Amino acid sequence: MHDPRIIVALDFSSAEDALRLAGRLEPRLCRLKVGKELFTAAGPNLVEKLMLKGFDIFLDLKFHDIPNTVANACKAAAHLGVWMINVHALGGRKMLMAAREAIAQGSTKLIAVTLLTSMDQNDLADIGLQGNPEQIVERLTRLAKDCALDGVVCSALEAANLRQQIGKDFCLVTPGIRPFNNQADDQKRITTPNLAILNGANYLVIGRPITKASDPLIALQQIHESIIL
Ligand code: C5P
Repeated sequence: MHDPRIIVALDFSSAEDALRLAGRLEPRLCRLKVGKELFTAAGPNLVEKLMLKGFDIFLDLKFHDIPNTVANACKAAAHLGVWMINVHALGGRKMLMAAREAIAQGSTKLIAVTLLTSMDQNDLADIGLQGNPEQIVERLTRLAKDCALDGVVCSALEAANLRQQIGKDFCLVTPGIRPFNNQADDQKRITTPNLAILNGANYLVIGRPITKASDPLIALQQIHESIIL
């Protein structure tokens, strides 16, 4: 069975655009991420169509609410048959445990977002969070592991430290990836695909380097081949 490590972010506003891009990719080489914009515009129907094309879907809706609501949202998401879903670790232990109880381990993967990378030290102080971003990410990662989640989303630069702290059997999903020689776009702290894997990432979320390429499949193949581990 293949287990592609690249997750292509379908950051589109319509089902048509998403399906057009998916039609140019191969499930053997990648999974697909559907986020808030696309899901709000195109809904479960699109997710089903993408799965019918053979793709595993990471439904990136980052649930954050009271435990009961999050548990039910997780159930509904898992019911779609998607491969992975996520919640905010900042929802706290009770919410994470409710999410875990809602989805049997070994079915849809359940991961947590730790800190949004858009938040800096001032933003953290504004909402009363103690410590620097690295310390908070580590704390929230431990919390997610404690609540038996399957992994976290983190930057590829944080992955090396987290992998050391948290051990092998915990999934690290890393965005902010740019193949060698690609433009950074609005990403600030970027890593190449191979370095991210060397740092201990299991899956790489990659958007524009593939979706904006003149030939997305060739871009995907080149990234795939650049990973030597
Ligand atoms: O186009 P690009 O490769 O920058 O897209 C990265 C994807 O990963 C986008 O869907 C973005 O929202 C997501 N993401 C991110 N940084 C995070 C979390 C998610 O870039 N910290």
